[in-house]
Amino acid sequence: MRGRGGPTSGEVFARVARRYDAVNRILSLGRDGAWRRAAIAHLPPGRVLDLGAGTGAANREFGTRRVVALDPSAPMLDLNPQRRRVTGYGERLPFADGSFDAVFSAYVFRNVESVPETLAEIHRVLRRGGAAAVVDLSRPASAWKRALHRVGTALVLPLVGLLARSPREYWYLHRSLDRLPPPERLFGEGPLALERLWRMGPFGFVYGVVLRKQR
Ligand SMILES: C[S@@+](CC[C@H](N)C(=O)[O-])C[C@H]1O[C@@H](n2cnc3c(N)ncnc32)[C@H](O)[C@@H]1O
Repeated sequence: MRGRGGPTSGEVFARVARRYDAVNRILSLGRDGAWRRAAIAHLPPGRVLDLGAGTGAANREFGTRRVVALDPSAPMLDLNPQRRRVTGYGERLPFADGSFDAVFSAYVFRNVESVPETLAEIHRVLRRGGAAAVVDLSRPASAWKRALHRVGTALVLPLVGLLARSPREYWYLHRSLDRLPPPERLFGEGPLALERLWRMGPFGFVYGVVLRKQR
């Protein structure tokens, strides 16, 4: 994805790969792991696809599930200690139909080129009755909190970007928060049934959803 005159998401993650986990932890005040954990708790056991796995920050939350880590960014994936790693995009998953019990995706959906194509692919690779859990950042649900949050990220993220020596990348993060419709709309009409939706974090700017492929 490219903002007007801005970097693509591929360029962003190639540049921030080494600092990604530390900065993510600081920006979420140490809560990013708990937000992933809350979503993974809803997934069945078995074979799970970590879509946009990045450096493997979710690995320790998967328990005994057999994980396949997929990401288009080689610099991010190179830092992921997972044994099964695949370079690829959510919109064109290089896996057979029905080959996963579960799909997990954290902090990825704002970055994909096409949410409908990614959801169609998740639906295709899930077995019947399988589940997907998605966690991502958005804006708070209420109008005044949304406005306040927008001002907050416009001020805080450029400062973090300066400290992390990646100002353009953190401005990209601020812009990406307004890229998609709210999760109620985003997941309400796709090929997968929306089973649960909850909000987390300050002002509820983090959401989790559980989606089910019908039997
Ligand atoms: C913010 S990082 C999240 C990484 C990891 N899921 C986590 O929880 O820390 C977003 C990841 O999405 C990946 N990504 C970007 N576009 C993608 C796409 N179209 N399909 C799959 N992954 C994508 C990026 O390369 C990056 O590693």
